[in-house]
Amino acid sequence: MKFTVLTFGCQMNVHDSDWLIRAMESRGWTAVDESEANIFVINTCSVRDKPEQKVYSVLGRLAPLCKNTGDFVAVGGCVAQQIGDGFLEKFPHVRLVFGSDGIAQAPAALEDLAQNHEKRLVLNDFLSEYPEREGGEVLPNTDLLPPGIGTIPGQAFVNIMQGCDNFCAYCIVPYTRGRQKSRSSEAIINECKSLVKAGIREITLLGQNVNSFGIDKKGKDLSFAELLYKISDINGLERIRFTTSHPKDIAPEVVRAFGELHNLCPSLHLPVQSGSDNILKKMGRKYDRTRYLQIVDDLRKACPDIALTTDLIVGFPGETDEDFEQTMDIMERVRYESSFSFKYSDRPGVAAVKMQPKVSEDVAQSRLARLQERQKSITRESLDDLVEREMVILLERPSRRQPSGGISWRGKDMGGRVVNVYFAGYTDEKTLGGKMVKVKIIEAKNHSLIGAKVGEPW
Ligand code: 5AD
Ligand code: SF4
Repeated sequence: MKFTVLTFGCQMNVHDSDWLIRAMESRGWTAVDESEANIFVINTCSVRDKPEQKVYSVLGRLAPLCKNTGDFVAVGGCVAQQIGDGFLEKFPHVRLVFGSDGIAQAPAALEDLAQNHEKRLVLNDFLSEYPEREGGEVLPNTDLLPPGIGTIPGQAFVNIMQGCDNFCAYCIVPYTRGRQKSRSSEAIINECKSLVKAGIREITLLGQNVNSFGIDKKGKDLSFAELLYKISDINGLERIRFTTSHPKDIAPEVVRAFGELHNLCPSLHLPVQSGSDNILKKMGRKYDRTRYLQIVDDLRKACPDIALTTDLIVGFPGETDEDFEQTMDIMERVRYESSFSFKYSDRPGVAAVKMQPKVSEDVAQSRLARLQERQKSITRESLDDLVEREMVILLERPSRRQPSGGISWRGKDMGGRVVNVYFAGYTDEKTLGGKMVKVKIIEAKNHSLIGAKVGEPW
């Protein structure tokens, strides 16, 4: 069967889609472009209103493409979990709906529906344990990396937990991803080991709130810090990252790990959401600005070079001008290297829907514009500070702009910054993906750096 997977949303979704593609290919299906596909899988996101609207427009676009018997659409991910069989009622070309825990059964269901054209199915039950997935694993000792983990050469993502128990007042995730479920540390460590054997150099551990890993196992498995130390010990693993962290759950041992583990990347995404104690309280974040700034201080003491990034929401119900100034102030104090910032939007069923007064669209828009403008300069200034520095880059793919007389590749440094590197005289670009190269930074752009090669890639 020819199929395609369209992915929206976070890294967990990207990773889920990668796994699904591998699992279907191992069953003999072929991943193709949308124009050639018979079966379309949409992996959806509902964290904000806009990504959800996108699903409906994609479903409209795909309807005329499902023209032959046997062509159909499967909707997976958070919007699938939220809307459930509503998709089957509204869209005749949708025949499979699978939510967060249903993905483990999606490959078998897709095969079943491809053969039984009358069937339609919803897999939306939450499970009480982390659902291990069969098929689509990386085979150890292979020179040729299987497709899927080849999306970024040398890098892979590993799920360590699913779901969230925090119920922040604005957030739909606990409803769409369900309660927190940690994966067994043994399964995680085994997966990491086989990835490293297959040539992976950088692993990103994924979960909605990785810092509370293991809490649901009530002490019967490792803590997140213990897991980090074990993974760091895997021979040949050069870089470890993890995302996402809730500030209230970051343990002192994890902060210490940034100073102790040679392969733990000095970068951390630490969503603050707001700089105002009043708003943080209403959001139910369970930390205040003093505590957050203390964590930032501790992180910088353990690892002075750590690159911090964050998520921010403006226009949360009841946010006053003074509250917003507190958010601007925390940006100045932390000086995030970059941030994702959003206007608050009501999500169905979350506590903030009932909170008043709502902030007008105009006010939220102008706060967002001011915040993003300031971030732009801070980002630029922090990149400027890196000119002349030497650093090691893990190469990902050719740069968008190619110079004459050589090639340019883009990769990331340990801090997660994008660096473009020029290779004079190189023509065979394929050999560079997944290699590391030492560079000296010669120029800073708005969102990236330019490095000059120092020595040969390895
Ligand atoms: N409105 C705006 N932004 C939101 N986020 C989550 N829920 C909402 C919402 N209702 C943002 C948060 C979170 C990021 C993934 O999306 O900043 O960290
Ligand atoms: Fe949403 Fe809060 Fe859970 Fe993050 S910690 S997924 S923001 S409820």
